[in-house]
Amino acid sequence: MRAIWYSDQGAARDVLTLGEMDDPAPGPGEVAVYVKASGVNPSDVKQRAGVRGPMTMARQIPHSDGSGVIKAVGEGVDPSRIGERVWLFNAAFKRAHGTCAEVCVTPAQFAARLPDEAGFEAGACLGVPAITAHRALFCDGPVTGKTVLITGGAGAVGLMAIQLAKWAGAAQVIATISSPEKAEAALAAGADEVINYRRQNVVEAIEALTEGVGVDHIVEVEFGGNLKDALELLKPHGVIASYGSEGERTPELPFYELMFKNIRIETIFVYLIRPEHRAGAVHDINRALADGALRPVIHKTFDLAEAPAAHECVEAGGKIGAVLLTP
Ligand SMILES: NC(=O)c1ccc[n+]([C@@H]2O[C@H](COP(=O)([O-])OP(=O)(O)OC[C@H]3O[C@@H](n4cnc5c(N)ncnc54)[C@H](OP(=O)(O)O)[C@@H]3O)[C@@H](O)[C@H]2O)c1
Repeated sequence: MRAIWYSDQGAARDVLTLGEMDDPAPGPGEVAVYVKASGVNPSDVKQRAGVRGPMTMARQIPHSDGSGVIKAVGEGVDPSRIGERVWLFNAAFKRAHGTCAEVCVTPAQFAARLPDEAGFEAGACLGVPAITAHRALFCDGPVTGKTVLITGGAGAVGLMAIQLAKWAGAAQVIATISSPEKAEAALAAGADEVINYRRQNVVEAIEALTEGVGVDHIVEVEFGGNLKDALELLKPHGVIASYGSEGERTPELPFYELMFKNIRIETIFVYLIRPEHRAGAVHDINRALADGALRPVIHKTFDLAEAPAAHECVEAGGKIGAVLLTP
């Protein structure tokens, strides 16, 4: 099969190699999947660049997310799954064989049935962004009737979070964005209101939108940088569910301000969420896809050989939605 791999960390153009290798065979509990599309997430790019710690494999085929068709199953996996359309997640987490190849071998539980309503490109957008968005939204129970703030609303996770929040019956979904194009994307995903956080005062804008009441739940892309605003905006018993804090990596926690409002902080590392939370996310994501409520936004699709350009596209920032590769 053709695959992209790296044996050293570094710049995409220096280390990503296109080559041929034998098709991998599924071991016990695994499936082999003909990959139709591979999703590039920021964590794949950071891992390759070396900013997330050293390599743990001698040779790494990158990317945890993807989609395709099961070609073979290992011992203990129901053979009726051969031919099943699937979306993949966690493929490259602590494993050498990610989805950036014509065939991917992965644990059977990390290959979820892809509903007929969804295409392979949509399927490859789901893993990290949709599961993260789901966990961040529902970590404190249903959001039905709640006011939800989604920061970074035009990000890959943010767009999924907006769609899932609307699907789940949130009363008001407010998204922060940084440009007219991102405002358009967040509104198209279903946000009721958007706030340009670089130009507007977010606290004042949300106070006006909520008649001074504030929000119940925040899906947060930048925990440290936005914590001060969150403390002002959250109602008592509110939740900050955060999956990133790149701008302020070691924020100070104002404990008593949090405590006096009974604020719950949930941190999310998608690759490690509990199996029952992952199963719940997969179930809901598939329902939302089948309902037509979850419509992944694709920024750009590259050919397999263009993997360095795809990584650079994610690194450049400014994208709206997912970056994919098609083997
Ligand atoms: N913990 C986890 O399990 C997990 C899971 C998924 C993603 N992540 C991390 O989360 C980050 C986003 O991932 P992604 O795939 O959604 O990336 P993305 O598609 O690049 O989106 C990130 C979005 O966040 C916005 N943003 C950045 N700083 C912001 C701030 N201070 N306030 C509001 N919005 C802000 C960006 O917009 P502007 O730059 O225009 O403001 C952009 O639209 C990455 O660092 C990724 O590694 C972590």
